[in-house]
Amino acid sequence: MIKNDKVFNIIRYSNVWEDTDIALDGISIKTGQIGAVVCSGGDNVLAMLIKSPKKIYAFDVNKTQLYCTELKIAAIANLTLDETKCLLGVTDGERLGLYKQVCDNMSKDAQRYFDEHIDFIKKGIVHTGKFEHYFQLFRKYIIPTTSSKNNYSEFSKMDNLKTQKEFYVRKIDTRRFRILFKIFFGYKSMAKYGRDKAFFEHVDKNDVKNNSYDLKKKVEYGLFHTKNSENPYLDYIANNNFTHAFPLYLQPEYYKLIRANLDKLELVHGNLGDLPDLKYDFFYLSDIFEYMSDLEFGQNIETLKKRVKNGSKILYWNMQNRRYIRNDTFVLDENLSQKLFEQNKAWFYRDLLIYEVKK
Ligand SMILES: C[S@@+](CC[C@H](N)C(=O)[O-])C[C@H]1O[C@@H](n2cnc3c(N)ncnc32)[C@H](O)[C@@H]1O
Repeated sequence: MIKNDKVFNIIRYSNVWEDTDIALDGISIKTGQIGAVVCSGGDNVLAMLIKSPKKIYAFDVNKTQLYCTELKIAAIANLTLDETKCLLGVTDGERLGLYKQVCDNMSKDAQRYFDEHIDFIKKGIVHTGKFEHYFQLFRKYIIPTTSSKNNYSEFSKMDNLKTQKEFYVRKIDTRRFRILFKIFFGYKSMAKYGRDKAFFEHVDKNDVKNNSYDLKKKVEYGLFHTKNSENPYLDYIANNNFTHAFPLYLQPEYYKLIRANLDKLELVHGNLGDLPDLKYDFFYLSDIFEYMSDLEFGQNIETLKKRVKNGSKILYWNMQNRRYIRNDTFVLDENLSQKLFEQNKAWFYRDLLIYEVKK
């Protein structure tokens, strides 16, 4: 496991870069269930509240991710959807005033954090993660030199797979794009500006070397198989904001239901072993196994085994790494994992694993 506290003391993801539709369809949460979900920027755990669970524990080793989520929770609990969009940075407006309206609803630690980082509030929290900053650099430096901001904006709104492919080939995948993609999404730049060197520690050296090559293939597969117009991740990358495709927790049809279920959400600072000692119906584990050794992966699975029951679902992603549970109790649903993976709108991953516990 990554030991360096410095790696986990800044907001890395102020949005969640894992497809929410897949999180929901992969686990198919039932009313009254109990789950544990890696928090990150909070988007997916907020979305899961539309399924009216009994309780979801959103856990993260990085406290600032929890603060970020606390701000989203306080906004949803107290503000209209339009005000929440403004406070979080999706639309323009008087953010400080809105922050003052909601900050008393956050923990003292979260309040202190944002009081000390008031520029995050001024900028809008959805733009403050290190990963989001990486895409801000992409829009500022790579898009204009390889195509144009207008082209990307037009591309991000397309809803026809054939047109998307043609447009990509003609106007996005230029010679310069291919060269700069390799540099910008190569291991070195990604480790420095987007993720962290430590996140590659347990990844095979060949995979590290091929980072940009693998990623380009994944991106192209995604662009040719999913509608751009419905893709909030592409919207953010192309326009550096959510302009037409919004994360589920910011969609009008779900907003009030999420607010009604906010009391079902509890934030936990820590890892799998720090969760309350319960039997859980589901675990949504992001790609946390990416960052640990094989041995630690095995230890985590042992912890997981103690907290599941017959029928529990476990969903996680592999990004660069290859972590597969080899254990008779955890049965991989290959069809569902593959079917959903092919619909993935956040294209960065190697594969999706959905297991069901059979005891
Ligand atoms: C695993 S990261 C992945 C985010 C995104 N998929 C990516 O890699 O670009 C998501 C969140 O998991 C948290 N995290 C990492 N390892 C963890 C662990 N063992 N237990 C709990 N949270 C963890 C990180 O702090 C981060 O906020």
